[in-house]
Amino acid sequence: MSRNTTSLQSHLTQSQHLRGLVAHATAPSNIAFIKYWGKRDAKEQWPANDSLSMTLDSARTETWAQIAPDGVNRLFRQEGVFSASEENKAFEFVDWLRKHTGFSAALHFETWNSFPAAAGIASSASGFAALTLAALGAWTGASSLEDLASHGFGLSKLAALSRFGSGSACRSWFGGFVEWSAGDHPLAQTVRQVAPAEHWNLCNLICILSSAAKEVGSTAAHSYASSSPFFAPRLAGLGERQKIVARAIAGKDLVTLGRELEAEALEMHTVMQTATPSIRYMTDESVQLLAALRQVRQQQELPFYFTMDAGPNVHVICESQDRERALLALREITGRIFPSKSVAIIEDRIGSGPSLRRVEVTSKC
Ligand code: DP6
Repeated sequence: MSRNTTSLQSHLTQSQHLRGLVAHATAPSNIAFIKYWGKRDAKEQWPANDSLSMTLDSARTETWAQIAPDGVNRLFRQEGVFSASEENKAFEFVDWLRKHTGFSAALHFETWNSFPAAAGIASSASGFAALTLAALGAWTGASSLEDLASHGFGLSKLAALSRFGSGSACRSWFGGFVEWSAGDHPLAQTVRQVAPAEHWNLCNLICILSSAAKEVGSTAAHSYASSSPFFAPRLAGLGERQKIVARAIAGKDLVTLGRELEAEALEMHTVMQTATPSIRYMTDESVQLLAALRQVRQQQELPFYFTMDAGPNVHVICESQDRERALLALREITGRIFPSKSVAIIEDRIGSGPSLRRVEVTSKC
């Protein structure tokens, strides 16, 4: 990877393997400001806490689907989309969807990510949202999200279904800022848009420190969370943080949002590290980058703030008017503290959610 900023790949536009009338779904990834970490009930995909995220724009998955002409489920994947284990998970999930929606036809899928192969960015949110949307699009023959809603699959229903592929996928159905509330019963969970993308043009600059696959996947790691002595105190304080973050978003107050973002990411990683077994996603390099970012923020009065997911890579949030300065600063920091390493920075911003079309794919295209 070069030290330069990496733009996300543009639209692939065309299925390479499917022909004829095909459902074409795109779903964005999302970055959590308040993290979903730990489950009350894994079977029900019932999270331990409410979470809140920003939907991304360019980091997304495109999935095409059609009723299998040969009656056999197949997944054609473009490089870097699902790993072999995720591919199994995808097939299991499609079987689950079939049982829970009453559709019986086998499907052919093709799926592609806009993120560079093995960039180390979690793809399960966009991957499972796009898979859900493409499958329902193929089964119902719907040609848009509105059309799909008229078949009984509105966004809330789709969010609830996709959660069983991956919890974070349920927040990818709405644009802008999205809240997933745990409710007081697994069936009382809700997902809703807190504010649309137009409300606040935030950017997400993702510093790729490692693209290696995780040794422990997040689904397994969720199950260790409650063994951390910091888990219960974290849950006790999260309601208040959720309110502060929601207020900061409403008032476009980046200083408050940034302070909470950083505290939240560090808190989740503390829970991970103090769980049994201890999981360490944050590397020494991540720690170095976080420290340097804070120093530069102070020295240059540059309002940019970090958050992290279940991995070593660092997501930097800033307002669009500070994007160029933030990029320059991140290039300077990574060049200085990792002189012998190439750190790609992926640029993304707040986005407006998924899409569904019905397209005719011809062999000439
Ligand atoms: C750290 O959604 O990947 O990204 O539901 O088991 O598939 P499963 O877990 P997953 O967990 C994501 C955790 C996180 C924080 C977040 O996105 O809220």
